Amino acid sequence: KQDTFFSESLLNWYAENQRDLPWRGTRDPYKIWLSEIILQQTRVAQGLPYYERFIERFPTVKQLAKAEEQEVLRLWQGLGYYSRARNLHACVRKVESEYGGIFPEGYAELQKLPGIGKYTAAAIASFAFHESVPVVDGNVLRVLARYFGIAQDIGEAKNWSVFFSLAQKQLGSFPPQIFNQAIMEFGAVQCKPGMPNCETCPVRIGCYAAQEKQQLALPVKVKK
Ligand code: ADE
Repeated sequence: KQDTFFSESLLNWYAENQRDLPWRGTRDPYKIWLSEIILQQTRVAQGLPYYERFIERFPTVKQLAKAEEQEVLRLWQGLGYYSRARNLHACVRKVESEYGGIFPEGYAELQKLPGIGKYTAAAIASFAFHESVPVVDGNVLRVLARYFGIAQDIGEAKNWSVFFSLAQKQLGSFPPQIFNQAIMEFGAVQCKPGMPNCETCPVRIGCYAAQEKQQLALPVKVKK
């Protein structure tokens, strides 16, 4: 029988501790996609006002697709990584021209779009379409490596599937749109980089890193 202690505790923790973020109240794939692109290398506090400005100026795929690149880059100013802004524009243009302005459903199909990799595809597929696919970002890698005591190098592409499979197993048949938000939020707020706050952690009794005092050794990242 599947051990659900970790996942059930996580969902209970999330119900009590989640931050109220604007993209969590929607199933619109356009809004979810936009939030995930903005948050890729940006903290929530910094990305939030950009998200609000983009949605206000471009409430739909069609409007962003029609925009001048200059205006998009201007709105992006301060976020850095301008290739993200160019991909952002290229992506909505493709959604507009090849998918009639409607984001395709499906983890595999979404990855055909510019700037959408495995993580972003999983986020959109699960949050917007409730597809049961796990998200694996830096937060998720850290939480899983610590809890399950996985010492494989997270910087090695070949190890990604180890974490993906583990995340998938923990996701099980829980609602993916909640489980995925919960595990990312848990990594961002509770099981932080550096020394996490184990005293108040709901899963510490099952956590390898907490029991073995390996919080700072996990996850393993060899090259930077
Ligand atoms: N960082 C990346 N995606 C996020 C999300 N959906 N909610 C909060 N923080 C995030």
